[in-house]
Parts: sequence; C-alpha cells; structure tokens
Amino acid sequence: MKKSFNRRDFVKGAAAISVGSVLIPSSNIFAQGTGKLKVALVGCGGRGRGALEDIHNAARHLNIQIEIAGLCDFFMDRAKDTAKQFDVSEALCMAGANSYKDIMKTDADIVLLVTPPIFRPVHLEAAIKAGKHVFMEKPAAVDAPGARKIIEAGELAKQKGLSIVAGTQRRHQESYLKTQQAVSKGAIGPIRGGSVWWCQSHLWYAKRKPGEDDASYMVRNWVSFAEMSGDHIVEQHLHNIDVANWFIGGPPKMAIGFGGRARRRTGNQFDFFSVDFDYGNDVKIHSMCRQIDRCYDRVAELFTGTIGSTYGDGPGKDGFAKKVQVDDIRCVDNPYVQEHIDLINSILNDKPINEAENVATSTLTAIMGRISAYTGSPVRWKDVTDEPSDSPWYSMTMSPSPIDFEKGTVKAPKEDVAAIPGKDPDEA
Ligand SMILES: NC(=O)c1ccc[n+]([C@@H]2O[C@H](COP(=O)([O-])OP(=O)(O)OC[C@H]3O[C@@H](n4cnc5c(N)ncnc54)[C@H](O)[C@@H]3O)[C@@H](O)[C@H]2O)c1
Repeated sequence: MKKSFNRRDFVKGAAAISVGSVLIPSSNIFAQGTGKLKVALVGCGGRGRGALEDIHNAARHLNIQIEIAGLCDFFMDRAKDTAKQFDVSEALCMAGANSYKDIMKTDADIVLLVTPPIFRPVHLEAAIKAGKHVFMEKPAAVDAPGARKIIEAGELAKQKGLSIVAGTQRRHQESYLKTQQAVSKGAIGPIRGGSVWWCQSHLWYAKRKPGEDDASYMVRNWVSFAEMSGDHIVEQHLHNIDVANWFIGGPPKMAIGFGGRARRRTGNQFDFFSVDFDYGNDVKIHSMCRQIDRCYDRVAELFTGTIGSTYGDGPGKDGFAKKVQVDDIRCVDNPYVQEHIDLINSILNDKPINEAENVATSTLTAIMGRISAYTGSPVRWKDVTDEPSDSPWYSMTMSPSPIDFEKGTVKAPKEDVAAIPGKDPDEA
C-alpha cells in the first residue's frame, strides 16, 4: 500500500495552529513547501467540481500545491469537461460505474467522493481499503445497511490513520462552532426541544431522453428517486438534522412522521415531510422539509433550553441567556473551503479527523424519518442499528443497488408511484 501523504513531505518545522477542533490557516505555514498533495475526484458534477475548487482554495490558504491525479464520472463528457475546467490532461479521465476502482489505483493522497448518495458506502469502503484520505459529500447513504457500512469504513480509517471529512459544512463554520460550544457550556441551559427546517422551492429535475437506458436516466435525474438520493429529507434536510444531533449530543430514540407527494413530475420522492424526533426525556425536535414553489421558505435550526434559546448559527439580538466563555475559534468565511483546510491540516499534522460516524448517524436519523413518513409507523433508533434485529428496517435496502449499476442490471422503479403510509381499508 502506498505510504500516506503527510507533513514530512513538506518543509520541516512548519506548524499549523490549532484551536479546539478547528485548525486556523496561516498563509505562510508551508512557505517553502516542496511536496504536492495529489487529489482525485469521483463524480464530476456541480458539487464535485465545486469541491475540487474548494480544495484548491484551501491549498492556497495553506500555501501548498495540489495536483490532480484522476477524474472519474459515470459520463465521460463530464469528466472531460472537468479536465478542461482545471486545465489538466484528458488522459486523467475515466468513466462508468466501475471507474472509481481505477481512481483508487492512482497515487492520489485524497479522494473526493461526490456522486449521488447511493454510491457513497461502496466508494468510501474502496477508498479506505486503498489507503486514501477522503472528503465525502453528505448524505452517507440511502438506507440503514449503507449507513452502517460507512461507520465500518470509518473504523477501518481510524486503524489506518486516515482522515475522513464529510460535507456537513456547518461543523466547519465559525458561527455554528461557536454556538455549539456555547450551548454545550450551558448558554441556554439543557436543550428541551426545537425545530429544524429545510423548506425551499422545487429542485432541478431531468426528463428521460428518447431511448435512454434506465441507469443513465437515473444518474441524470438522481434527485427525483429515493433509491438514488434517499429522498430530500435525507439528501438535503440532513444538514439541519445533523445540527440537532450535534447540539443535543446524539441521535433520537424514535421518529414519528408523515409526508406526501403533491407536485413532482418525475421519480418517486415525496414533496414534503414533517417528523417528530424524540430524543428521550421528553426532548423533541420537530423537523420540517419541503420542496414546493411559492410556499413559505426557511432553512435553519432553533433550540430551546431551560433558560433561553438560540439558532444553530447564533442567538438573536439579545444574545445568550447566560454568558459563557468560548474558544477563539476562527475559520475562513467559506465553510466549504474550511472543510478542506481542516482535512489537509489533519493530514499534514498526522492528526486524523474522522467524521464518518457523525454523518452516518445523522443519515440514519433522516432515514428513520423517511421510513416513518413512508409507512406511518414509528421507527426507533434500535430498528436501524441493533443487531440481531427483528425490525424490517434494519436490513431494508432499495433497488436498484450500487452493484446493479456496476453490473449493468439497473431497472428503474415506476415513476409517480410514491409510498402510501398505513393500509388501504379496502385491501384484503
Ligand atoms: N454539502 C452541500 O451543501 C452539498 C451541495 C450540493 C450537493 N451536495 C451533495 O453532493 C453530491 C453530488 O451532488 P451534485 O449536486 O454534484 O450532483 P450532480 O448530478 O451535479 O453530480 C453528480 C455526478 O456524479 C456522477 N456519477 C453518478 N454516479 C457515478 C458513479 N457511480 N461513479 C462516478 N460518477 C458518478 C454523475 O454523472 C454526476 O456528474 C450529493 O450527495 C449531494 O447531496 C452537497
């Protein structure tokens, strides 16, 4: 296995400055740097190209160099467009559902995993087995077995001293980091409840091209299929659910929710969810997400404690109920760049970061909410995590699976057929 890249590849004696869990960048840290950090990208879409830009920006902050070791996408034209955008050779491009395997054979130090969520568990496992440090986008998976595979890969990464940073960027954002620390020090008293929202207008969607096969269509229109994205409570609202788990200090014990499909044109996802997450001891977080135009929009988190309340990124104008001392946490303005600064610093300082379990836990939480809304049943944390399990949710996977894409056996589910909770009284 290739030796993992570390700070010895750079100039001796350089030091990154660390405050709490956040590493402060200094533009002169690696002024005389001699090494190049090699990066490969799996998934050359909007966020993938964004992540590649972000890691270049992070490297500029740290005054080190980045070299692209490989680019892969399901579609070759997307990989080639990315090569053009970053001014590297098309020879670095690979395509197809199996192309991630070739990325893992490159000499990349860091792999960016930025495909639709369905593929993340398989890709993370391959990256860690290949000895790569990883930046992976959220969510971790679309089903409970996938999320648990992420936790396992995270454990393997710990044994190998590899870093995994997840795209839950609020955990790398100064305002959130300071607020979380203040809350943990009693600024609003113990959290008793709250609300988390991701309500916005419709997201993009793609229509099937004439004669297009199921796999290509599902990849192009992945935000419309629960099998690809986990549905939008998992794919998007995960950010706010993750903040709730982070601030409260763990996942809920149970989810009870509902939702529905009202206006979507393609795929099988819901348009809205409303879920009550029960954290035990009567602590409840209400989660609400919607993708419908011309409705009330809000993306935020609000927590109420025994003596006061706060939003996830800071209190209102009156400040915290109780003054507490927080560390001098400083981040760059863009949390998407800070994620990569933290990742690179963790590698250069031989202090691995591992966010696999956090993002997998929040993904499991969102999956509990989705299953509850789809079925009408309460879903307990132990239903998706406890082994041995008598719960159908523990091993429930969706079809097509990532392996169907690799084998070319993808069969798209019927469109405009969404889950119906409960049981039709006319059913036998
Ligand atoms: N953190 C954030 O704020 C944020 C913002 C946007 C998207 N995201 C996440 O980033 C991920 C990608 O989203 P996007 O907006 O870039 O989508 P996208 O459709 O623009 O890009 C996904 C790319 O992955 C490629 N792909 C699909 N399957 C593949 C496979 N098996 N191997 C290689 N390439 C494959 C697609 O062809 C496409 O080019 C999603 O998980 C999404 O939730 C996170």
